[in-house]
Amino acid sequence: MSRTHFLGVALLFLVAFPPAHAVKYRVVDRTGYITGCNRFKTEIGSFYTRQLMRAASSFIWLTFNESIGERKDHDQVTLVIHGFQWSFRKILFHEMTHVWQQYGNGKAPRGLVNGIADYMRLRAGLAPKKWAQRGSGLRWDESYAVMAYFLDHCNGLKNGFVAELNSLMEDDYSDEFFSVMLGKTVDEFWMDYKTELDLPVELSKVE
Ligand SMILES: *[C@@H]1O[C@H](CO)[C@@H](O)[C@H](O)[C@H]1NC(C)=O
Repeated sequence: MSRTHFLGVALLFLVAFPPAHAVKYRVVDRTGYITGCNRFKTEIGSFYTRQLMRAASSFIWLTFNESIGERKDHDQVTLVIHGFQWSFRKILFHEMTHVWQQYGNGKAPRGLVNGIADYMRLRAGLAPKKWAQRGSGLRWDESYAVMAYFLDHCNGLKNGFVAELNSLMEDDYSDEFFSVMLGKTVDEFWMDYKTELDLPVELSKVE
């Protein structure tokens, strides 16, 4: 299953300098090559985009509960703009999460990686209106939105859950990370979550 989440925005990570505390944000605007497409320049612009990249990074580090020494040490993040899209901020938060999150040494399922990126924009108040409803889905990893809400639920049960999961994913990935942190398997948690969200009315009627 694939989904295009770039939608005209592509990220390129350059690590060109020795680690420093201040990350440099660069925006390369390639929309000039597209005839009649100056909307990025006129409606968003590179200056605003750099502020947004900086703000998104701070938000992501905070949500991942990472201090300076614990973050991934990218010195420079370059965003290459290939087009214009309405939900620019939403996409940017998702893509910036990919810059800073852990990938379990390549073992983390793609769905989870994207689920965490969508969780980040959910937390930032940037969930698209057309997303699946909270609590919907047949499997916890059914879609990025379903997973984002599920992760939000897990985080509600254990504050810092997503931060800890991300940190565990530094070198490895296993579904068992869920049981290590929450005491139940991810599927058990999914069942509890579905029961909680689907049945409250029926349960209260049973008295
Ligand atoms: C954030 O990390 C610190 C240690 O680095 C830890 O003591 C604290 O409990 C964490 N906060 C959350 C919400 O997980």
